[in-house]
Amino acid sequence: MNQGTKARYACDMDKLQYQTLDDIERLRTAVGPDRMEHALQKTLEFARLMTYYRCAMMEIETKFKVLNEEFSLRFDRQPINSITTRLKNPLSIQEKLVHKGLPLSLESIERDLHDIAGIRVVCSFIEDVYMLADALLKQDDITLIEKKDYIADPKPNGYRSLHLIVEVPIFLEHEKRMMKAEIQLRTIAMDSWACMEHQLRYKKDDELDIQIAEEIQACAELSATLDRKMNWLKNQIASESPDDSFKLHKEMERIRSSLSRTQDQQKD
Ligand code: GTP
Ligand code: MG
Repeated sequence: MNQGTKARYACDMDKLQYQTLDDIERLRTAVGPDRMEHALQKTLEFARLMTYYRCAMMEIETKFKVLNEEFSLRFDRQPINSITTRLKNPLSIQEKLVHKGLPLSLESIERDLHDIAGIRVVCSFIEDVYMLADALLKQDDITLIEKKDYIADPKPNGYRSLHLIVEVPIFLEHEKRMMKAEIQLRTIAMDSWACMEHQLRYKKDDELDIQIAEEIQACAELSATLDRKMNWLKNQIASESPDDSFKLHKEMERIRSSLSRTQDQQKD
């Protein structure tokens, strides 16, 4: 997109971000009194749609938090290191629609763009990535739209992550709405690599030098080796320590006997 077009879209997209009274005045100046009502209507509809996406992110984030809690109860460790969510900004939405040759409409945003709501789940170990993805997809209110396994099949530059496009219901006062979201699951090592690669790439406007690109890809391989070793060590340590269900059983026994002691004391 050239600078002129970009500036025009930035200006158009601005109209969707008017929220305060001052903003509304600016909107009136920008569109003129005749188109004001229409512009306001569109602004509100866009803001409403973004709120629905925010709700979908909250639903999915909660689902992962619940899985994390459940897992930590069973296995004494938390599989999730961090969860971040992001809503695509209006200008990026507009640029993507233009880039794909799609209409600039709310219908098109909902139908054709799958990554307005983004959830990134960072885990310590590779096995946790797949365990969490499976556990989420088993839930009967989650519909899988698309799965891209860039861990089994990394991108040529070395990028690794498990991407899921899902649909999740949000429950509003009078309706249930299905919303799409993009979930990226990855390990800490994959996340570090992706963040650094992103910084290196975005500093440059043109293609990376081939030798530099090969070095970046080599770093991705190093990071994948680290992941495999860490996963192996985790399993090694788990196989040497007592069975988790046994530990849980012992803990339950301890709690039960301390409870019955307290009850006995209360009777006395
Ligand atoms: P777009 O959504 O238009 O980008 O196309 P797509 O849906 O085919 O993209 P894909 O599923 O491959 O990637 C979507 C997201 O994954 C991007 O927005 C990034 O957050 C992340 N991603 C994909 N490839 C790379 C990469 O090479 N490097 C980094 N750092 N992130 C990537
Ligand atoms: Mg995408």
